[in-house]
Amino acid sequence: MRQQIAAANWKMNCTLQQAEELLNKLATVSDFNSVNRIVIVAVPAPYLLLAKQKLAHQTNMFVAAQNCFTKKSGAYTGEISAEMLQSMDINYVLIGHSERREYFNENNTMLAEKVNLALEYEVTPIFCCGESLSIREAGNQNEFVAQQLKDSLFQLSAAQIVKVVIAYEPIWAIGTGKTASSAQAQEMHQHIRKALEIQYGSNIADAVSVLYGGSVKGNNAVEIFSQPDVDGGLVGGASLVAEEFVAIMNALK
Ligand code: 13P
Repeated sequence: MRQQIAAANWKMNCTLQQAEELLNKLATVSDFNSVNRIVIVAVPAPYLLLAKQKLAHQTNMFVAAQNCFTKKSGAYTGEISAEMLQSMDINYVLIGHSERREYFNENNTMLAEKVNLALEYEVTPIFCCGESLSIREAGNQNEFVAQQLKDSLFQLSAAQIVKVVIAYEPIWAIGTGKTASSAQAQEMHQHIRKALEIQYGSNIADAVSVLYGGSVKGNNAVEIFSQPDVDGGLVGGASLVAEEFVAIMNALK
């Protein structure tokens, strides 16, 4: 059975004090039914170890980095390597978020390198894909997302791809308050799973968690997560409010 995942992406938000406060609240969540469900919190890099510490006793809560670099180590000022994450026992890393693609010019080829390195150092990539509004309006979203998967993930072996989490985040739904309808989400998630099936077979396709991201809130999560191919969410704004995020955690199947 695929894991159901509520993943928070704090992006570039929170002072240290605010981060502590939010983590303290997550650390005290006690009624989360964890059978086949996990929580992942992608915090800004300076707070990775703090988050690890605060959530240490929550056996089903994990910490993620928001990015790692395409090279193993060396003279790349400001960057974070997959090996560093492994050495800190950080289990997940977001790769290819649309904001990284847009503001930092990350392309599919670079993202393939990041995915490969993360797996080499046993950090699970949460690979983000998704189309812009103009691509959706032109009706080309399926081809566009399939190409993102092909270019950045399909170099992986079957044994590797089952270690990847995919997050479908339509850019037009990120931070806009406008979610994809549950039918639109299901349609794309089914398309992603079909692409996995064609490449790797149905057993593998069935084993990969595919999350939806884009204006997920406490009050729409149940509806979105109820879709058969939606295995949870990657949540931005609403993950900064503990009560909202806990409601989203509890909306997992
Ligand atoms: P919002 O939930 O704020 O729309 O952000 C989604 C996102 O980009 C998560 O990675």
